[in-house]
Amino acid sequence: MKYGFARGYAKLNLTLDVLSRRDDGYHDLEMIMQSVSLYDSVAVRIGTGEGITTISNARHIPNDDRNIVVKSAKAFCEATGIDCGGIHIAVEKKIPSSAGLAGGSADGAAVLRLLNELCDAKLSDEMLCDIGVKVGSDIPFCLMGGTRVARAKGEAMSEIAPMPDCHIVISKPWRGMSTKAVFTEIDSHPIPKHPDTDAMVSAIESGDIHGLCNNVYNVFEPVVSGEIADISTIKVMLRNYGALAAAMTGSGSAVFGIFDKKENAQIAKNELGGRFEETFLVRPVSGVEVRKCIWTSQK
Ligand code: C5P
Repeated sequence: MKYGFARGYAKLNLTLDVLSRRDDGYHDLEMIMQSVSLYDSVAVRIGTGEGITTISNARHIPNDDRNIVVKSAKAFCEATGIDCGGIHIAVEKKIPSSAGLAGGSADGAAVLRLLNELCDAKLSDEMLCDIGVKVGSDIPFCLMGGTRVARAKGEAMSEIAPMPDCHIVISKPWRGMSTKAVFTEIDSHPIPKHPDTDAMVSAIESGDIHGLCNNVYNVFEPVVSGEIADISTIKVMLRNYGALAAAMTGSGSAVFGIFDKKENAQIAKNELGGRFEETFLVRPVSGVEVRKCIWTSQK
């Protein structure tokens, strides 16, 4: 029986823009995405003789076909025609759900990378991304990681310079919203303000943390913060503790603040953590780091 472990890293949206609605019901997006040092631990065993099974420490996540890790394993077997002789996936979740942090996609990406290694399938990154995007729009980014501009559903990506090193506090309100509901909501409102993606890319390319912070913007934030008041509360608290920028990530409801001073970030983490259980202090993580966090046995 072969087995392996991988980390599935969370992502943040430094920018998120919705460009248009597509014929397939999805939306064309333009986003700058960043991996951060908050991760789920994913273990995969093949040759179990028991179909595809899964278990996790998160009681609200179903251990059946609705789980993104099961969907990812199925998609891998279908695309490659490989019979793994049974797959068991165990996930230790730390990334909050319904948060806009790509927690599910991070786990799905880890499963695809692990199965590629364990089955010696030798699929290229591009092929893994093609399989992944059909399961979850954020899986391609989670497979590659680092700092990237992502377009279309998220699968058309280009890597840019790494985000300048900094300290990031992430805090999630109790309530979340489904991604689908947020997209439906944005379709019924004109979008009053868009991020300046080019300006954000220039700031990152020149290592300008202040320029970066001036350009953090997510078009979903006004929509979701109208429903979840804690988003504004967390933003105000982050700014008061010295964050250079604060914004919601993805379709929410997690909010992040970017700090240049570790002491300020630590105080913000402690204070917010007293009020919102799912609060984390993280750093940006490179694509190389994301892709190398995999280990497999050859038994
Ligand atoms: O692909 P994922 O499962 O993350 O998407 C969840 C939902 O978000 C989709 O069912 C779709 O309604 C919406 N979505 C979208 N356009 C995207 C990504 C997601 O409309 N680019």
